[in-house]
Amino acid sequence: PRLLVIHGPNLNLLGAREPKYYGLTTLADINLALARRAEAAGVQLDSFQSNHEGALIERVHAARDEGVRYIIINPAAYTHTSVALRDAVAAAGIPFIEVHLSNVHAREPFRHRSYFSDLAIGVISGLGSEGYLLALEYLISKLKAD
Ligand code: DQA
Repeated sequence: PRLLVIHGPNLNLLGAREPKYYGLTTLADINLALARRAEAAGVQLDSFQSNHEGALIERVHAARDEGVRYIIINPAAYTHTSVALRDAVAAAGIPFIEVHLSNVHAREPFRHRSYFSDLAIGVISGLGSEGYLLALEYLISKLKAD
C-alpha cells in the first residue's frame, strides 16, 4: 500500500467510547470512508488497529519494507507515553500526519505532550473523524505532486 493508517489502543471502541470526546462514528466507518476516498483517488490504502504497543511498532517496521509512502497515525494514549513507537516511526523514516479525534490541548495536561508531533508533517486534533479524511486529502494531493 502507498498509504497506511495506524490506530492505537482503545480506538477499536470508537462509537461507544466517551462519545463526548470521540464522537459516534465507529472505527469501521472511518476505515471505510478512508478506503473509499483512497480508491476514488487511485491510491492504495491499508488500515491497522492494535491495542498492543509491540504490534504497532512491528506494523511500522513492515511499512518500511512495503514501501509505504506516508502514514496517518493516531497513536491514541501512546501519543503521550511511547518513546518506542516514536523511535519506530523515526527509524522507518516514513513521513506521517498525526491525527487526534479530540482536541488534546483542551483536555488534561498529560495529553498536551506528544512524542510524535515534532517528527510529524503536521498534526490534526479536535476535528473528530473528519480529521482522518482531511489528512488523507492532503496526502492524495502530495502523492500527485511527488
Ligand atoms: C486520542 C487522544 C488521546 O489523548 C487518547 O488517549 C486517545 C485518543 C484522540 O484521538 O483524541 O485514546 O488520540
